[in-house]
Order: sequence, then C-alpha cells, then structure tokens
Amino acid sequence: MKFVDLSAQYQAYKQEIDEAMQQVVDTAAFINGPDVRALEEELAAYCGAEHAVACSSGTDALLLPFAAMDLQPEDEVIVPAFTYIASASMISFWGARPVFVDVDEVTFNLDPEAVRKAVNPRTKGIVAVSLFGQCPDLDALQKIADEHHLWILEDGAQSFGARYNGQYSCSMTRFAATSFFPAKPLGCYGDGGAVFTDDPDMAARMRMFLSHGQEKRYHHAMIGINGRMDTLQAAIVRVKLKHFEEELTSRNAAAEYYTRELTGIVETPRVREGDRSTWAQYTIKSARRDRIRTYLQEQGVPTAVHYPLPLHHQKAFAYLQDSGPYPVAERLSREVLSLPMHPFITDDQLAAVVQAVKESLA
Ligand SMILES: Cc1ncc(COP(=O)(O)O)c(C=O)c1O
Repeated sequence: MKFVDLSAQYQAYKQEIDEAMQQVVDTAAFINGPDVRALEEELAAYCGAEHAVACSSGTDALLLPFAAMDLQPEDEVIVPAFTYIASASMISFWGARPVFVDVDEVTFNLDPEAVRKAVNPRTKGIVAVSLFGQCPDLDALQKIADEHHLWILEDGAQSFGARYNGQYSCSMTRFAATSFFPAKPLGCYGDGGAVFTDDPDMAARMRMFLSHGQEKRYHHAMIGINGRMDTLQAAIVRVKLKHFEEELTSRNAAAEYYTRELTGIVETPRVREGDRSTWAQYTIKSARRDRIRTYLQEQGVPTAVHYPLPLHHQKAFAYLQDSGPYPVAERLSREVLSLPMHPFITDDQLAAVVQAVKESLA
C-alpha cells in the first residue's frame, strides 16, 4: 500500500500526460511555453481569482508576494506555530519577522483570537495556512485584517480546490500561494507552484520578480530570482486539472469512510459544515499515536507525522527566541498521524487501514 499512489494516477491518465509532455519536447518550448500561460488562465478560472502567476514551487509562491509588496526588515507577519516550515521561513528569508500564534484544536488552523492578541503596530500581514486541505476561519481573520490594515496571504499549498462559504481556496485573500509538489492534491512531476491575486499591479511585480526583475529582455528593474515554472510541469498540471474535481470527490469519499469507521476510536478530523476539504492529508489525533504508527508500519500501512515539531521548536527559528508556549500546536505535534489518502485508494485498502488502526488499540 502506498501513502500517495502517484503511479496509479499516472496509469489512469497515461495517454494524455504522455501526449502533453511529448508536445512540449517536440516544440522545445521548455521555458515560458504556451502551456504556462494557459495553465495560469485555467487555474484562475477554476478558483475565481483574477490573476494566477505560475512559479517554480510553493515555497517561491510564498516569497513572491513579499517581494511584490517590498516587505521591510522590521515588519512582522503572523503565522501559525503548527504548519510546514515554508509558511514561515520565507518571511525570515525575506528579512522580516515571523510571529507565531497558536492554532485551533479542531481545524488545526489559525485561532483568530490568538491572532488578534498578536497584532501590534509592526504587524503587516497574516499568513493564513489552510492546513491539510481546509481553509481557516477566513471571515474572522479578514475582519481582524481590515481593522488593522493588514494583508492576508493564504498558504493554500495543501488546499487548492477547497471551498469555504461557497468560495474557492486561493481566491478570497489579497494573495494566495499553492504548491504543485507531486504529492499535493494537484501535483506536477517535480516542483511547481502558483500565486493568486486580484491586484494586477501585484501580479505584474510578482511576474517581474520571478524573472530576475526583467522588464524587457536584459533590462532589469528590480533584483529578482529565477522562479519560473517549467513548461513541462505546466503541461502535466493542465492534464491533471481536467480530472481534479473527480479526484476531489474520490478523496472526500475516502475521508467519509475513514470518519465513519474511526469516530470514537481515535479523534477524526472535522470539516466546517458546508465547506469542502481537499484532504491533502487525512490526519487523526490520538494520545497513543506512536503505538498506532508502529503497529500500522508492521502491517505494511504507511503513515506520516505532519508535523513532529511546532515551528517555535525548530532550530532554524531559535534566533526568534520564542519558546511559546503554544499548547495546541505542541499537543498536535505529539498526537497527529496522517493515514494513506489519495484518489485511487481502493475499498480494500481503506478497510485494511481501518482494521489496522482498530487492532493497534485493541
Ligand atoms: C503548508 C505548506 N506550505 C508551503 C509548502 C511549500 O511548497 P513546495 O514544497 O512546493 O515548495 C508546502 C509543501 O510541502 C506546504 O505543505
């Protein structure tokens, strides 16, 4: 059994993917080929953002808005203490200061009340992570942002395709970033990402930044990076985007099955009424996490711990001298366990995972 079965997915769309890749090779349009712009238009249309800017990874997608806004060294940006490092590290990398806040017990996402308490005159924005595929309480966060003139950057690396109050992830905030890392719900065959915004000037500045600040050939208006998305990756994502809704339906069916079978045995994830998760991860909670994990491993069921350390315990952030406490983030790091989840998981595989979890606690 695989944690994410990318081979099964390739077999399902093999002909389309092979043709799309061959066309890029045949035309040798490896950089800035027509698939890149076409993908940007399709992504924007899918989620309802005005502009999508394709780039080389989800990490770069989290950096581009800071460059476009010219975030300054003394500026502070609020970010959850429980997330993947890139949500916060790009703030540091750009020279600004990440300010950790604790997360909500149920959604694992930013706790709006904790955010409100962390705002001060140096605060410029909030990185609102949509962890494991579910958006945070964006209404509450937007209210705080509006009151204090802050921007919100949704880290939608795991949530492209999610819905919140009927709207799509990556379309509701000043900026949003997503990742096409292969194991993400919408993945490519290497690294890739995209940033979304409704602001045409910001979109233009981000485009310029990811191409060495180039205004026209060999004329550079700003210091930038080489952060372009490869045409081959764009061509692959375009194929997968056609099948994406179907895949999300299948992920949701798998999640429903897990929840039905495991509720009362471990703490199962909950999605806000009416919203849709992409189930980038199906993550249970248990005080006996390590026992479950070891047993599942013995039974050939792969699992993962997202994430074993909250950000304030990462060595990389020791320089912030922030020892918390962030009790929810700390407890989640000890208790979370992600189960196999992908659109091609079979009923038999789901049943085997559930049985192994039950046996591990018997
Ligand atoms: C929440 C979150 N943010 C950012 C990233 C970074 O994306 P990438 O790996 O494409 O750079 C990831 C991917 O692992 C992620 O899960």
